[in-house]
Parts: sequence; structure tokens; C-alpha cells
Amino acid sequence: MNTEKILVTGSSGLIGSEAVEYFDRKGCEIHGIDNNMRLVFFGTPGDTTWNLERLRRSTKKFTHHNLDVRDRLALETLFRSHRFDLIVHCAAQPSHDKARDIPILDFEVNALGTVNLLEATRLHSPEAVFIFLSTNKVYGDAPNEVPLEELETRWEYARPEDYNGITENCRIDRTLHSLFGASKASADLMAQEYGRYFGMKIGVFRGGCLTGPSHSGVELHGFLSYLVKVAILGGTYSVFGYKGKQVRDNIHSHDVVRAIEEFAANPRCGEAYNLGGGRANSISMLEAIAKIEQLSGKKLNWKYVEENRKGDHICYISDLTKFKSHYPKWGITIGLDEIFRQIIADHTKRLQSAGA
Ligand SMILES: NC(=O)c1ccc[n+]([C@@H]2O[C@H](COP(=O)([O-])OP(=O)(O)OC[C@H]3O[C@@H](n4cnc5c(N)ncnc54)[C@H](O)[C@@H]3O)[C@@H](O)[C@H]2O)c1
Repeated sequence: MNTEKILVTGSSGLIGSEAVEYFDRKGCEIHGIDNNMRLVFFGTPGDTTWNLERLRRSTKKFTHHNLDVRDRLALETLFRSHRFDLIVHCAAQPSHDKARDIPILDFEVNALGTVNLLEATRLHSPEAVFIFLSTNKVYGDAPNEVPLEELETRWEYARPEDYNGITENCRIDRTLHSLFGASKASADLMAQEYGRYFGMKIGVFRGGCLTGPSHSGVELHGFLSYLVKVAILGGTYSVFGYKGKQVRDNIHSHDVVRAIEEFAANPRCGEAYNLGGGRANSISMLEAIAKIEQLSGKKLNWKYVEENRKGDHICYISDLTKFKSHYPKWGITIGLDEIFRQIIADHTKRLQSAGA
């Protein structure tokens, strides 16, 4: 893999920071773009400064650029001074629910910001591999049409052929996306188009629940991180609808970055993949609450709200067959228990250092 010089956008966020650390350990030169817009979206709990500081301490060849992906001219200047081998685009307005309050900003960051980066790459680093972190919300609520059965603690696919979950064949139009899902679907299509039309090496990863200790978890985004935060710091967690039996598949940020590495080593032009924890790392809200209580030894305060989040998935498991068939060396390496342990340990550490 020829990835000496890497650009990571959203480098202070969950996936971006994992990519920075991972490729820095491999000796690459990393440039990160992040303007801490997560603070603007979610207020103080979304502030990513702690993570940027952590990266500055732990990396060797990392340069941070306090730059906005909406700023085409600033991107142009950066791309004129560096020829990148790999671009990992993680900067986003990441919340389904938040987008309702800020439709223009959401679209500018998610859709236009992505086109800005695709175009800068085409003009200045056309040989680079470009990874776009998309989302399973591009399918809108179409996955809810899969027949389900109700089990004691979770919703489950009723037909054996759906056991592995949702494939990339699920349609992305004629569904309710949320504005976030629609702005990401726009970016997802443009990324695929730059790959297919211009022959650029572009991978589109449609994430399930991406998680890990470096998340600045808030109620509107970062479900496991926020759940653990409430268990450790106190407060009340709200479960919205579906009897608390909604199922999510969770993938550790390390396994996401490993998928990026595999794709970059053997890229394709505009290919879209589902990328989540798959069947083995799937869990329902009720099951997650029980697990957190068991692993942290703390009782979680939570309340049930009858109305589900608009367009929310009832049972979503990413079918990983396509990615695994293209990249057979890749697989999930971090299971759910370890994910929980790491997030619990990290929140406990952050709590202790805040009190110190
Ligand atoms: N975390 C998940 O569960 C999940 C699920 C599916 C898809 N995704 C996608 O994966 C990507 C990474 O998600 P994440 O969880 O790491 O998000 P995150 O919010 O932790 O990180 C995103 C980073 O981008 C930065 N940013 C936002 N707007 C910016 C702008 N205009 N210019 C520069 N920087 C900006 C933020 O400050 C933040 O640090 C996003 O595209 C997201 O939509 C995430």
C-alpha cells in the first residue's frame, strides 16, 4: 500500500482519530482537518478538544489543520501544497435527529463538504484512494420492511434468508431517511459517481453503529458511548419506542480503520459496502442496558418514551458478506464485551482525571 501521506478529515472525532493514530503508528505522515464543529452541533459534551490534545501527545507525524470542509478555497490551498496517497473523509454532521434543526448546515457539511473534497482530490491528488464514511441511513427506513419477529429482549429477522442482515441491494430511494440520511445519501452517490465516472479509487462505507472509546458521546449521537456515560456519570437515558428491543450492530473504530487499510491496499472505483459489527456484534437497547449494568456494576437510570425516533431502524444488522468477499483478510476482531469494557474504562478514566 502506497500511503505515505494521508489526509484525515474529522480527525478529532471517533473514526478520524482512530485513523490518525493507526496510520501514525505505521510511520505515515498524517494531516488532519477538524474545526471542532461537533462542539457547535452538540454543545460542550460534544467538544473534541480533549481528543485532539490526546492525538498531539500520542503521535509522531501528525499535523492538525483547523479547517472547515465547507471552505473550498482553504481546501484548495492545502491540496496544492500536498499530494495525498489516501484521503479518509470522516468529517460530518453525524446526527439523524439534529439535522432537523439545521437542514442547511447539515447539507453544507455532509453533501457539499464531501463534493469539495472529491473535487480537490480529482484536481490535485487524482491517484489517491478516497474513503467516504457513509451511513446505513442512506437506506432510510426501508430496512424496516424486512419481516420481524418479537423475541423477549429484541426484534429479530423472521426469515432465515435475512439472518446476516441488510445487504447493499437495499434500495436508497422512496424511503424516509431523515434529513441527515438524505444529505449523506447525496454525498454517498457523489462519491460513487466520482469513482465510476472519473475512474477514481473510491470506497463508500455505509456504517452501522461505529463506536469506541474516543467518541465524544452525546444523546443525539454515539449511542453506546452516551449510554456508558450516563451509567458512569449519572443522569437518565431515554429509550425511544420499539419497546426498547431495537437492534444495532456495533463495530469498534479499530475494525473500521482496518477495513480502510484493506480497501486502500486494493482499491476499486466507487464501490459501496455495508460496514458494521454484523450479527455477532448486534445488541438491542434492553440487552445493552443489562450488559452495561453487569460490566460496570452500576445501575443505569433510564426511562421509556413511547414514540420512536422518526425513521429509526427497528432491527439493523449489516450484512458484511460483500466486503469480506472483496477483502477476505478483514474480519471483526473486537467483540461486544471488549467494546463495552474499553468504553467503560475510558469514561471512568475521564471522570477520574476531571475530579483530580
Ligand atoms: N458513529 C457512528 O455511529 C456512525 C455511524 C454511521 C456513519 N458514521 C459516519 O462516520 C463518520 C465519522 O463519524 P464519527 O462517529 O467519527 O463522528 P464524530 O462526530 O465523532 O467526528 C466527526 C468530526 O468531524 C468534525 N467536523 C464536523 N464538521 C466539520 C467541518 N465542517 N469541517 C471540519 N471538521 C468537521 C467534528 O468536529 C468531529 O470531530 C461520519 O461521516 C459519520 O456520518 C458514523
